[in-house]
Amino acid sequence: MSAILPPTERLWIKHPIDRVEGTWIVIALTWCLIMFFMMVGWHIWGTQNLSTETYRTTPERFQAKAQEMVDKWTVRTETAENIPVVAPPPGADIYQIARLWNFWPILELEKGKTYRLHLTSLDYNHGFSLQPANINIQMVPGFEHVVKVTPNQSGQYSIVCNEFCGIGHHQMVGRLYVK
Ligand code: CUA
Repeated sequence: MSAILPPTERLWIKHPIDRVEGTWIVIALTWCLIMFFMMVGWHIWGTQNLSTETYRTTPERFQAKAQEMVDKWTVRTETAENIPVVAPPPGADIYQIARLWNFWPILELEKGKTYRLHLTSLDYNHGFSLQPANINIQMVPGFEHVVKVTPNQSGQYSIVCNEFCGIGHHQMVGRLYVK
């Protein structure tokens, strides 16, 4: 059979499976299964994908709560876009918004203290990849993801968007401070 000439047997399903083809099907299927069960493994033993509580929300509702936090606890602004740096008290509910193409606001947390971090996107799917801690959470519009965070190391962290979100995706980088 050739790829250029029409096949003699028109129903491909009736062709016997070639040994090489069969081997590849088995390899691909085995690898799919390994990858599938690794997802479960990463969740249990990995520290990358955190478990989140997830609730429905609207951009207006989430933005109002984030604004309230910013109004109460902003300590300064940073970057050319004048993004507020917010230092919330330990135990507070804290909010992080993703949108084309920034993270807002910048959070300044205290080491060893626990916060409830709420995440959402106001437009498209964005990613919350906290570097160098290598934590990875999706930010999905219409949903509020809540994670309990207790920073255990001081420093400046980067938040990188790792979901392709258009022309400014590569510039979508935020900051997070731990004091
Ligand atoms: Cu946001 Cu990529």
